[in-house]
Parts: sequence; structure tokens; C-alpha cells
Amino acid sequence: MVRYDSERRLWALEGKKCALVLGLADLSEPGGESPAGSRESLLLTVWYGSRLPSLQDYPVAALDPGWASFSSPEGLSPETYPAWGGARYGECALKGETAGGIRDLRLYYRDFRVRGEVLEIDLEDPLTGLAVTAEFELFVELDLIRTRSRLTNRGPQAIRLERFFSGLLYPRRDEAYRLTSLQGHWAGETRVRRQELGCGLTVLESRRGFTSQHANPFFALDPRGESREESGEVWFGALAWSGNWKVSLERDAFGMVRVAAGMNDFDFGETAVPGECLESPWFLFGYTDGGFGAMSRALHAWQREFLPRKKVYGTTGAGAPWRPVLYNSWEATAFGVNEADQMRLAEQAARLGVELFVMDDGWFGARNSDRAGLGDWQVNSGKFPRGLGPLIARVRELGMRFGLWVEPEMVNPDSELYRAHPDWVYRFPGRKPTEMRNQLVLNLAMSEVEAWLLETMDRLLTENDISFVKWDLNRSIAEPGTAADFSAGSDRGASADSVPSALGRSVWTAHTRALWRIADTLRERHPGVAFQSCSGGGGRVDMGILERFDQVWPSDNRDALDRLGIQEGFSLAYGAHLMEAWVTGEKNWLTRRSIPLAFRFHAAMAGVLGIGEDIGKWDEGEFAEAAALTARYKELRPLIQGGDLYRLSSRGDTPGGEGLSGRLYVSEDKRRAVLFAYLPRDRQAHHVSALALAGLDPSLTYRVTRDPQGSFPAPGNPWADFAGSAAGCGAGGEWSGAALMARGLATGLRGDWSSAVIEFTAL
Ligand code: GLA
Repeated sequence: MVRYDSERRLWALEGKKCALVLGLADLSEPGGESPAGSRESLLLTVWYGSRLPSLQDYPVAALDPGWASFSSPEGLSPETYPAWGGARYGECALKGETAGGIRDLRLYYRDFRVRGEVLEIDLEDPLTGLAVTAEFELFVELDLIRTRSRLTNRGPQAIRLERFFSGLLYPRRDEAYRLTSLQGHWAGETRVRRQELGCGLTVLESRRGFTSQHANPFFALDPRGESREESGEVWFGALAWSGNWKVSLERDAFGMVRVAAGMNDFDFGETAVPGECLESPWFLFGYTDGGFGAMSRALHAWQREFLPRKKVYGTTGAGAPWRPVLYNSWEATAFGVNEADQMRLAEQAARLGVELFVMDDGWFGARNSDRAGLGDWQVNSGKFPRGLGPLIARVRELGMRFGLWVEPEMVNPDSELYRAHPDWVYRFPGRKPTEMRNQLVLNLAMSEVEAWLLETMDRLLTENDISFVKWDLNRSIAEPGTAADFSAGSDRGASADSVPSALGRSVWTAHTRALWRIADTLRERHPGVAFQSCSGGGGRVDMGILERFDQVWPSDNRDALDRLGIQEGFSLAYGAHLMEAWVTGEKNWLTRRSIPLAFRFHAAMAGVLGIGEDIGKWDEGEFAEAAALTARYKELRPLIQGGDLYRLSSRGDTPGGEGLSGRLYVSEDKRRAVLFAYLPRDRQAHHVSALALAGLDPSLTYRVTRDPQGSFPAPGNPWADFAGSAAGCGAGGEWSGAALMARGLATGLRGDWSSAVIEFTAL
């Protein structure tokens, strides 16, 4: 709940175990910056950490005394939403410039409101008239808070913003911290990186115009690097922005750590026009003393509870919003789609138990390779002479829903659209725009392009019985400008007269805002359609896109072993119910290693199961095994998509590691759980240790059963005796939760590529 202590001028946002405490400090000290004769107060973050028994236990807000020169009290104090101005040298949330040449801002406390679990605090710069409302929303049960800020320019002059962050976070002072982040690249996303947070700035960011595969807008800090999967303190956060973003972590020479997060200020330029209101994206953050596991479970639970759920999912299992098992044609047919082949695949998919059939790239325009057709969203009449109708009807007849691939923000220069509108792409006057994957990016900052895109997608969804859209984005933005930026009225900056340098730069944020608007409108007009965010794999995975898209494609890398590492990192911040995972061919095109079908399934079943293989090539044995595993997935789905995740023998410290690991999903009442156990590589005469379990109820007795599918030595095989420490409970029989957690589980896995599904049912 949100409590206010009027005497000590403190607000405490208290969750079950955490507290964020904000307070006011007067600027009456000598050296303070309040104008002569007036008494101003600064808003400070006085505590963020564990919840203490009474309000009296929290410190009051007090300015750091600072030193006579080289530092000032306000510059050294943990201001909750600092603007750059005066003697402030640390990371700030806001930086602006007025048309009259004032290049700093000072934000003083004005007022506050509490509405339920929402606290709003108003700040204002009396000189420029810029008003800021810092908003905090508390999620008590989950110990999470989200913040954003709203700016209103009440002054006479436009203010060009050079930085407009969502907010700042201050983990406990005087600690050394380790930073955990998710970094990577195409086909190698969300790798867990751990490093000491050194003095100075550590920046996680994207300058690519979208979230990007290279870093994800998520971070976690643990004191001295001592926290573990199920123990220890962690401060963490995730930003809800799908464009250029920045999480800037600063450790200063006085032991203060500031984490500033928001839209990236690189080449940033929004303008606060008099009378107008601007809103930052949300920044969701949390504190736990339950380790990285508790952090992830809180984020996943938030995503399950507060992200919108689509109707389309309501029908796939007991009225619950489970994501359907999907089939995707990309691996099987690439650009060579046609009615007959897709129908054949659909028939096979239906026999496997697939619920959603998705046709990928190649169905539109002159799209026979990635060199042409993007932008021409009309059905290719050579491939589908009768349109999409008959295929969709067949898919529906087979009891499945139909999904379609699109990449709407893009255009190939070799397309009707580009020939008609060469000025619709991002470019700088006089420069040839850079092509990536033979394509250019449509300038969504232009209102006519936004309108065209919305109308085109709307028509596609209106004219066809489509339940699912795979919305792709296969390149970064470059040359983020266009001649249109300089024409009157087309750019917000252009109308804010006498702030010339805002011209063009607003494109970065305009693109994301336009995309969000389009997605929001499509969702409203087509409530039965679910959306998947794909971006050359996992390039657009963030809390902002997840408010509009129902699931994401984490990586183009389908190699089941690589995938375990990618999925591990993904799970730090995002839930299994959002993570689409496909079973594809035996050999990945690059790694060329052969991975058994059961292992590939078990890796993909840990998320939203999909199949992306030419299933026509499977023999009857493989087909039967795949159908059995698909059926099993559907049984386990409420646990996987709705349960609490425990990462066992975490692979986090050794990305790409090949030892025994597991993912355990536990139901809310702890009466049912399922374990996916993986042993990609074994060693000769090696002792495979028991897998330490967590999250079960120690007082319950569980029946433990191992599914028949999987690869492990058959009973009677002498090697089976080495399959798990004798100290562990066996993967069969009845065991107490206490024993399973204390002794661990002898999984029975032995030999390369062994994997198993083990279920726990309370008696
Ligand atoms: C991207 C996606 C793939 C596939 C292709 C189609 O690479 O990540 O899954 O849809 O585009 O061109």
C-alpha cells in the first residue's frame, strides 16, 4: 500500500516484502539553489529495499552536505527524477533547452495524489514552466513497481528535450554490485552476461531504432555478486519501450548507484510544445531477497496477470488463455509457398495435433526471394490463384486456426510500393539509403505512411479469416530522416518554431509510437487476432511490445542446445507463456549436429510449442513420437504456461554449458509440477549428480513419474545405475517434497542428448 507520513514528509510504497520510500528535502541550506526568499523542496529516493516494520524505520530525506566546492548537496543527493541543471553531474532523467537559450531545468516539489496503489508527485521548474508528474504504480503481491513521467509545458516557449527518461532507481547505497544483463546477436539472443559494476557508467542500449538482439532492456543487480538462483537480494528492472532505449548504470565515487532508464537520448529530439503533454514509457522494477528465481517469477506473474490476453487463446483449453500449438511453414517451404503444398502441410500438422497453422514469408507480391515484394501485401496470384480463401477454409475444416506472416514496416526497392512512393522510406537528402536484407524501412513518422500501413493490415485482416499475425522486422533503422521532416507541419519539431535542432530527430520515437498506435488499433478492430512479435528472431522483445503482441519469437536459432542457453536468458525477464519455440530438423543448418527428436521437443515444450519442420519428411515412427509429445504438451500446458518457473542447476553462469540442467514448472497450489531435464553431453565414467529441486511443498508427498518419451538408458541397462547420485530420490515412486528438495532427484539421464519429462503429483 502507499502510505504518507506528513510529519516526516515521506511516501512509502510498500509491497509484501519491499519498500520504495520517497521524501522531501528543503533547499534552505547554505549553498542551496532555491531562489532568494523562496523555500523549495527536492524529491529524493530515501530507501529502496526490504520493507521495514514501521515508517519510523525509514530515513528522512536529507540532502548530502557535500563539500564547499566541486560538489553541491543537490548534485550528491539521490533525486528521484532529476533534471540536468545547477551543479548536477550524475545521470539525470531530463535535459531540456528553451528557445530562449536556457539549457537547464530545475524541478521542485509541488503536490501529490494517492489513488489506490498509485502515487503521483508533481514537480515543476518555475522559470520555464515545465511541469513533471512522476507516477508510481505499486503491485503489492508481486513486490513490483512501475514508474513513468508526464511532462506538460506550461511556459510560453517550446522546450526541446535532449533526454526524457522514465525514471531512476537507487539500489541500497555503499554496496558493490554485480550486473546481470541479456546480450547477444542475431541467432544468439539473450545470453546471460555477468560483470562487476565498476565505477563510472555502464550503458545497456539500442541505437538501432528497435529493441534489438544485441541487448535487451532488462538488468539485475546483486550485492557483491553473491546472490544465487534461490537466495539473495536482487534489484532489477525492465523497460517498456520498443525503440532506441537506454539503461544507464552509474556508480559514483561516493558509493551511490543510479540506474536511469528510458528512451535513448542518443540523437533524441522530442519537443514539449506549450500546452502539450508528453508521456514516457513505463519502467517496471523490483526488489527481492529470494534470488534470481524469485525475480523472474515476479516478472512472469506480472506478465501473466497484467498483459492483455487475446480471445483467440480462450478456446484452446478449459477456457484458459493458453497459447496454441502452432505449425510454421518457413523451414519447410521458405519462399516457395503455394496452395497445394500448404494444404498438404496443414493436413499433416492437423494429424500431429497442431492448433494454429501459420504460413510464413512468400505468399504476397513478387516475393520469391528476399530481394523483392515487401510492401506489396496482395496475395501472389501465381501461388494462390484462388486467393487465400480455400487454404484458410481447409485449415479451419481441419480444426485449426490460420496465421500469416507479414513484415509491414519494410519495403524492398524492387516492389510496386517503392516504385510508387520512393519518398516513404527513411533517408537523408542526397544520400543513398543503406539496404539491409535488400530492404528499406518505411518512415512511420509520416502520417500518410502510418495511415497506409494501418489500412493495409486492417484490410488483410478484414478480408481473410486470420487468427494470428507473425509481425516481423528484419533490419535496423539507418539514415533516420526524410525530406518530409523538413516540410512544414510534418514533424513535431518543425512546428516548434525557433528550436531548429529538433528537426528530424523525433523520427526515432515517432516510429515506435506509430507502430504502437497501429497495433493498438488493429487489436481493437480485430479482437480475435493474436500477434507475434518477431524481429529476425528476438530483436523486438520488450515489455512495451508485449502490451500489444501476445507472444514473441526469441531467436532464429532453432538448434536445441543453443536454444537452451537462449531460453535460459529469456526466462530471466520473460515468461514461458510468451516464448514461442519450434521443433525443427534433426540438424541445425549451421551447427550440423544431430539432435534426437525427443530432445528437440523437450527443449521446445518448455515454452509455447511450435513445429517448424517439413513434417512430410518424417517417417511413421517420428510422426507417432511427435504426435504423442504434442498431446503430452497440451496436457502439461497449464503448468508450463501458467506455473512458476524454477531453473535448476542453472546454466546461467556457463552460457552454452552442456551439463545437466532442468526447468521445473510448479502449479500455484504446488500440487503439480513438471520437470524438463536435459543432459546434452555426457562424459565417460562421469558421475551425473542429482538435480537439486526447488519450489515444491516440503509437507506434501508427490508421486514421481517419468514419461516414456525421451532418451535415457532402459531399466536394466547397467549404466542406468550411474544415472544420478545415490543420494538423490529416484525418478519414480513416491517422495516427500522435503526429500526431493533436500536430496535432489536422480533423473536417470545418461548419454549424450538425454532428456526427460518428469511429473510430480501430490497424493
Ligand atoms: C525472419 C524470421 C523468420 C522468417 C523469415 C522470413 O528471418 O525471423 O522466422 O519468418 O524472416 O523471411
